[in-house]
Amino acid sequence: MVLLREYFRVDVNKEERDITQRELLEKLDGAFGVVAMLGNKFDRGFISKLKTVRVISDFAVGYNNVDVKAATEKGIVVTNTPGVLTDATADMAFGLLLAAARRIAEGDRLVRAGEFKGWTPLMMLGHEVSGKTIGIIGAGRIGTGVATRAKGFGMKIVYYSRRENPDLDSLGASLVTLEELLRESDFVSLNVPLNSETRGMIGRREIGLMKKSCILINTARGEVIDERALISALKKTKIAGAGLDVYVDEPKVNREFFRLDNVVLAPHLGSATLETRARMSELSALNAIAVLKGERPPAIVNPEVLEKSEV
Ligand code: GLV
Ligand code: GLV
Repeated sequence: MVLLREYFRVDVNKEERDITQRELLEKLDGAFGVVAMLGNKFDRGFISKLKTVRVISDFAVGYNNVDVKAATEKGIVVTNTPGVLTDATADMAFGLLLAAARRIAEGDRLVRAGEFKGWTPLMMLGHEVSGKTIGIIGAGRIGTGVATRAKGFGMKIVYYSRRENPDLDSLGASLVTLEELLRESDFVSLNVPLNSETRGMIGRREIGLMKKSCILINTARGEVIDERALISALKKTKIAGAGLDVYVDEPKVNREFFRLDNVVLAPHLGSATLETRARMSELSALNAIAVLKGERPPAIVNPEVLEKSEV
């Protein structure tokens, strides 16, 4: 914000909630740029009403809240914050993995309820993590970060992606088909962006291929999983558990999850560290400033807009 104030008049939403679409549209009347939060939906209809905005600087790596095609058609640059949140998000994925495997959140509830009656050999047994197989879906920066952590735990790593990633290969990971990954993995981590190919990619059939002892981790986007299928599988213990940071209808969370002890639920904390949020703030400001100064921003989603305006 300090950076932005050097160049522009800045209006900040100081409330701990997303501004409504209507309020946002009013605020954007006459504005040249917006630093957008994930709760702000820039769909085609909304974008068509923007008159002066030249840059949507998304405060996220995943920009599925913006209809990029509609923005591009209107000559609006869309930017995001890749790279700066990779480690924080990979840490979160691993934190959820450990919490679900070793029943940490469930154990915390037990202790708080005064139910800890002493150490016994069979109390709250979980799943060993070291030496197990992890399947990583999505071979981007965050998936690679998860693999780096998995290597430290002596895990066997398989991954599924449209193309081979040499960084993952050099960590000893093998590229496999989705079906092989689902069948072989003790843990599955979702690290894909949300788009038409990944929406609902983990449904009943895919969950049905997983081991009964498998734990599914999602720090990507809720819509990558068919939540109903997941809830049903967790209820019937068709898989052992899940660790979720994201949900289909955020910030609403399907209440059926609340009754299940084999799922760990986090409130979209993937990038929520002081250091990472500071870097995201800086990058989102630099992106907006560059576009409005007529320069190429550090992280652009639709570079074709700039190329068009250069000719
Ligand atoms: C958060 O979910 C992000 O995409 O940065
Ligand atoms: C995606 O952009 C990633 O950082 O993995």
